[in-house]
Amino acid sequence: MAVERTLSIIKPGAVAKNLIGNIINRFEEHGLRIIAARMIHLTQEQAQAFYAIHRERPFFPELVAYMTESPFIALVLEGENAIARNRELMGPTDPSKAAPGTIRGDFGKSITRNTVHGSDAPETAVTEIAFFFSHVDLFPRAR
Ligand code: CMP
Repeated sequence: MAVERTLSIIKPGAVAKNLIGNIINRFEEHGLRIIAARMIHLTQEQAQAFYAIHRERPFFPELVAYMTESPFIALVLEGENAIARNRELMGPTDPSKAAPGTIRGDFGKSITRNTVHGSDAPETAVTEIAFFFSHVDLFPRAR
C-alpha cells in the first residue's frame, strides 16, 4: 500500500452545524493524519475555479452558491491509501445512497449539501491540494 495525500473539505453546512470535530475524529480514528488545515470563505470566482470541471453541469450554480455561503475547512489528509480510505469514510456523493456510519450517510442533506468533499484520484489530489495550500503549508508527520 502507498502513502497518499488527499484534499478533504468539511463543507459550509457541516461547519455551521458544529460537525468539524466529529468529522476530524473519524479521519484520525481510521489512520488518516492531518498534515494541513485552513478555514476558508471562497469568493464566487474562486469556487467557480475550484469546481471548473463541473462548469457545464446543470447543478454548477447551486454547487457554487453552497460552497460560498459561509466558511469551510480544507484539510490535507495523509496515510496508507488515503484517497480510497477517505472516500470510504465519506460514502457516496448522494447521501440518500450512503450507509449509516459514513459521514454523508450520517449528516448529508442532499447531493449538494453532502457534508464533505474528497479528491477522487492521485492527479486530482495534487491539483486540489495546490489550490488551497503551498508546499510550505504541509507538515508531513513523522509521528
Ligand atoms: P463534491 O465531492 O464536492 O464534488 C462535486 C460536487 O458536485 C459533489 O460533491 C456534489 O455536491 C455536487 N454534485 C455532483 N453531482 C451532482 C448532481 N447530480 N446534482 C447536484 N449536485 C451534484
